[in-house]
Amino acid sequence: MYKILVPLFALIATSALAGDLDKRQVLTITESQRLHVIEEMGALLSGTQNILAALSMSDMAAVNQYASSLGMNMTIKTEDYLKGVLPKEFMQLGISIHQDFDKIAADALAIKDRKHTLQQISESMSKCVACHATYQIRTVKTSLKPASKSNHHEH
Ligand code: HEC
Repeated sequence: MYKILVPLFALIATSALAGDLDKRQVLTITESQRLHVIEEMGALLSGTQNILAALSMSDMAAVNQYASSLGMNMTIKTEDYLKGVLPKEFMQLGISIHQDFDKIAADALAIKDRKHTLQQISESMSKCVACHATYQIRTVKTSLKPASKSNHHEH
């Protein structure tokens, strides 16, 4: 009897989420916090595009500049704001991608090898893919934690 009950409970637990087609881990944040994530994502996408364009013209100085703008100094804006709001694993993945861009920037000047840079970008972008495959964001109207010290974008 006991042996039958356990899988039955497991079934009930998962079916409670039936209807949720998106199975990725849910991160619940406010609209304004999500805006910070979206803004950072936009910068990552356009920055990566700028790096590729510069790389196609063998302009390693521009690669360095664009990659630096996606480096650790970018995290001061967003990550500080979201610290304690988003899970540690999420933040670490984010930080590690910024570290990658600092390395890409440095190597663009030190090594000046387009193939090397392309390889680094491709490896780093597997982190974009991994994070997007793992998490989704849902928003709530009010702050769950007193994390929003800042008042930009509050409605
Ligand atoms: C640590 C996790 C994480 C990493 C790493 C990450 N993203 Fe995202 N990204 C997200 C999440 C979560 C969303 C969904 C936000 C939403 O729609 O609520 C998102 C959304 C986006 C969007 C859509 C933004 C919009 O306007 O709706 C783009 C574009 C994007 N990411 C690009 C990138 C690129 C390019 C990289 C890598 C260079 C990257 N992301 C790395 C978590 C991540």
